[in-house]
Amino acid sequence: MRLCDSKPPAARWRGAALLGSLLLAAALALRSATRPCSAAHRRCRQRLYPSLELSAGSRINCSGIVRGDEKAIQEARLSNLETANRRARLTPDEYLNMAKDCGSFRETRRFIEFPLSQEEAEFPIAYSMVIHDKIEMFERLLRSLYAPQNVYCVHIDGKSPAAFQEAVRAIVACFPNVFVASRQEKVVYASWSRLQADLNCMQDLLESPVPWNYVLNTCGADFPIKTNAEMVRALKVLQGRNNMESEKPTAPKKERWQYHYEVRNFIFRTPTEKPPPPHNYPMFSGNAYIAVTRAFVRHIFESPTVQQFLEWAKDTYSPDEHVWATLNRMPGVPGSMPQNDKFQLSDMNALPRLVKWQYLEGDTSKGAPYPPCTGQHQRSVCIYGVGDLSWMLQQHHLLANKFDPLVDDAAIQCLEEHLRHKALYGRGL
Ligand SMILES: *[C@@H]1O[C@H](CO)[C@@H](O)[C@H](O)[C@H]1NC(C)=O
Repeated sequence: MRLCDSKPPAARWRGAALLGSLLLAAALALRSATRPCSAAHRRCRQRLYPSLELSAGSRINCSGIVRGDEKAIQEARLSNLETANRRARLTPDEYLNMAKDCGSFRETRRFIEFPLSQEEAEFPIAYSMVIHDKIEMFERLLRSLYAPQNVYCVHIDGKSPAAFQEAVRAIVACFPNVFVASRQEKVVYASWSRLQADLNCMQDLLESPVPWNYVLNTCGADFPIKTNAEMVRALKVLQGRNNMESEKPTAPKKERWQYHYEVRNFIFRTPTEKPPPPHNYPMFSGNAYIAVTRAFVRHIFESPTVQQFLEWAKDTYSPDEHVWATLNRMPGVPGSMPQNDKFQLSDMNALPRLVKWQYLEGDTSKGAPYPPCTGQHQRSVCIYGVGDLSWMLQQHHLLANKFDPLVDDAAIQCLEEHLRHKALYGRGL
């Protein structure tokens, strides 16, 4: 990595700061000797940045879609229908092939290989990415989250086909700051293994030399709705607090830890009642997606109280949805929030993940939290369609869940195009 040119004048830094990192900064560096960029910064950007833009298919008007333009949305739906059967997804074999030449892979796939601002360079983020299939979606998610100062741990499901695992490893090998988790779980839906996959990555991330401040966890159906710069700013505002959904559990949620659950190829409840948690603190419920500090992560591996709690939670149902939420309300846990009701945080008010639950969708003017899903539902969760984008981009969350190229690829393409444009030029489409 090399700077575009020599150290910029201080005035430029101030200007960039004033523009709130709209304009990009001078930490602009350029990777390749084949694309020398020694002119003035602006010229350098003018030449380099267009080659880093991502653009959706020709029939998809993303600037209309992100504004909620009905005509653009209809057009994109037609385009989805037409290409659904035609556009073949990139296969594991194709990725294996492409990633043989890492330099060309990073360039043709348009990964951004230099920090886009000083502020981002100084605030690295760690990621725990838990995936099991859809290689193209993994690569597009990684590309949209990727910044060279960050660090990414990828947990590949132990049950994933060998070809998928090899392709992930080939992609990962092209980046010094992306690695595969040192321990691999076979993840069973709603079981402890899901949480263990994140723990494996978190433990590895603590060993990384990257001085990250926060870790975010993602799954294969997530996609960011903020640029890296926006995430950095949102996390800085937390001032060392963690952020996640954490609310008082309902009666049905409590059953998830009142009985012993057993895991075979799937998880099932037994009549055996469990003792209450080993600590005397109340339980809270939330979801699997969190933003937590390095101090929090270190604490969960070091504290005997936390370790006993984790051990106790191993035979509960979907522990990822109460373990984090409870830890984040436990006294003495770094970055946690008080137990008091005043600190309840719903998924809609928490930062990490935007999810549309089918049973809550409706008319917002009549009190529903969000308008109906324009894609399809899977296990009561919306897989977003292009019609969800303009609403989505007005929300404060860092990432949204779920996306699926088979349901609506245009929605993902427009997020890619919009976020990349915003990252490069400081404003959306
Ligand atoms: C895209 O949609 C916007 C409306 O939001 C419209 O102004 C623009 O002309 C459209 N572009 C194309 C190429 O159709």
